[in-house]
Amino acid sequence: MQLGLTGTCALVTGAGRGIGRAVALGFAAEGADVAVADVDLSLARRVATEVETRGVRALALRVDVARREDVERAAGEAFAAFPNLGVLVNNAGIQLDCPSAEVREDQWNRVLGVDLSGAFFCCQEVARRWMAAQLPGSIVQISSVASEFGFPRRIPYGVSKAGIRAMTRGLAVEWAPAGIRVNAVAPGYVDTELIRRAIDEGHIDGRRIEEMTPLGRLARPEEVADAVVYLSSSRASFITGTVLAVDGGYGVEKAPDRR
Ligand SMILES: NC(=O)c1ccc[n+]([C@@H]2O[C@H](COP(=O)([O-])OP(=O)(O)OC[C@H]3O[C@@H](n4cnc5c(N)ncnc54)[C@H](O)[C@@H]3O)[C@@H](O)[C@H]2O)c1
Repeated sequence: MQLGLTGTCALVTGAGRGIGRAVALGFAAEGADVAVADVDLSLARRVATEVETRGVRALALRVDVARREDVERAAGEAFAAFPNLGVLVNNAGIQLDCPSAEVREDQWNRVLGVDLSGAFFCCQEVARRWMAAQLPGSIVQISSVASEFGFPRRIPYGVSKAGIRAMTRGLAVEWAPAGIRVNAVAPGYVDTELIRRAIDEGHIDGRRIEEMTPLGRLARPEEVADAVVYLSSSRASFITGTVLAVDGGYGVEKAPDRR
């Protein structure tokens, strides 16, 4: 399926590794240039080099999405390099696994700052430029199954990801007249460094995740990237305000007698 992304550019946050890296490479495979943004510039540079080997252009950007001034500067640099920037993917995110009674104020503020406020700042900075130039655009955000279901010790994370759902739906309605579509994907467990470490350190049980997932395994980052790239493309031109589960059936699994 031709996705019609050749000649456009995608700005991807948190693109230095994991899902964000897979998204960046997914856009490159479709012929789109990529602005690779990450708080860790060395990771961003490495992915930008990988993107360029696919025959498209890339720009590595250092940004802490929780800092408004960083986001403003990075958006300016991205549009200066790529006036064809037509896609924003808000992927940067952090986790906190901590008993709720012990979460400190600075920890609460940091998780919400990166996972929720950061996504909003990026939406604002990019959409403002599209609107000023009267250009259409597409935004895809990364929510999570944690936005809908009960996940102990991850309240700031779940609250942020639920906020992403609300933000996606609200902005989709508000910005539709400007030709800006806003969607999200809600992954289940994805086999990234973040999750591998949590399994290895015993914070989460990999076997239990597989049992709770009808497809019987964790997602590959590329499987989340495929959904992101599709939603951002003109092939999804009439889809806005949707939150697409990419969870192997995790969210619908309720049968006690499945196995
Ligand atoms: N891995 C999963 O199972 C899973 C499931 C559901 C949702 N998600 C979400 O997907 C996204 C990516 O997750 P991942 O597993 O690839 O994580 P990861 O930790 O492997 O990668 C996250 C990337 O974001 C960057 N980053 C962190 N803070 C940042 C900041 N303030 N500004 C800019 N960049 C920053 C990191 O440097 C890193 O490169 C996150 O939003 C996460 O919440 C992940």
